[in-house]
Amino acid sequence: NDLYAVVGNPISHSKSPRIHNLFASQTGEQLEYTAIQAPEDDFAGTATGFFQRGGKGLNVTVPFKQEAWELADRRTERAQLAGAANTLYQDREGLLIADNTDGKGLVTDLTANHGISLAGRRILVLGAGGAVRGVLGPILAEKPAALVIANRTVAKAEALVTLFAAVAGDTSLDACGFEQPCEPFDIIINGTSASLQGDLPPVSANVIGADTVIYDMMYSLQTTTFNQWALDQGATRVFDGLGMLVEQAAESFRLWRGVSPDTRPVIDELRND
Ligand code: ATR
Repeated sequence: NDLYAVVGNPISHSKSPRIHNLFASQTGEQLEYTAIQAPEDDFAGTATGFFQRGGKGLNVTVPFKQEAWELADRRTERAQLAGAANTLYQDREGLLIADNTDGKGLVTDLTANHGISLAGRRILVLGAGGAVRGVLGPILAEKPAALVIANRTVAKAEALVTLFAAVAGDTSLDACGFEQPCEPFDIIINGTSASLQGDLPPVSANVIGADTVIYDMMYSLQTTTFNQWALDQGATRVFDGLGMLVEQAAESFRLWRGVSPDTRPVIDELRND
């Protein structure tokens, strides 16, 4: 069997082995997918060793996505812009290729699973860290009318605007602090890690209108802190990142195997855990 794995630290809670093994049984692909905990200080050795042993592909998660990007010999265009990689594989010449499927996963979940088009819409993105940088390219490729990046540290949002200006096309791209946006957006995407501490980005409730779509890139068994806040402000279309998690995995699976799994039954199964 071809061997795949997800590498992170910690890794025991990763859902990737479960997701990929469900994909494999559903599509009849013969593969094994495991979880590897790399030492904090030796991602490179762990990844290199895996491929030397004949491994076919790696997913990479916290805290190694940037190291994976640095380790690669070549990067796809979307990985280049993302500055981080969640997917590694070797090409025919044995060169290590880095890709990033997170943004594709987010966009596919919004558009295909939830029926929400991004084209021509006004989008507010909260946060300006690695998670947000990873998804901006694919969001902009959908040609929203406007994209506002709000962050606690405004300079980081401004840096992302500079970095993505060249791929923004006709989209108006702006940076600001959390307190600034005060009118309703069509779509609000929370990409901060604030919920991890049970915190909320201190954004005005006025950004939520009757039809605003809320998307928290985080996923947890209970409603996320951000989504609960949005519901309390009257939002009705509120989604978490479970679909994104499964869709980014599906995109990696498709890259490695050339087969597109059906994500719906996998999302449903994980939701019912
Ligand atoms: P990740 O890989 O999850 O993006 P990161 O690169 O450390 O991690 O970025 C974390 C993001 O969440 C940043 O936008 C951070 O804001 P700052 O850039 O100002 O640090 C944001 N964040 C983290 N904790 C937060 C909190 N308690 N309130 C608001 N924003 C928070």
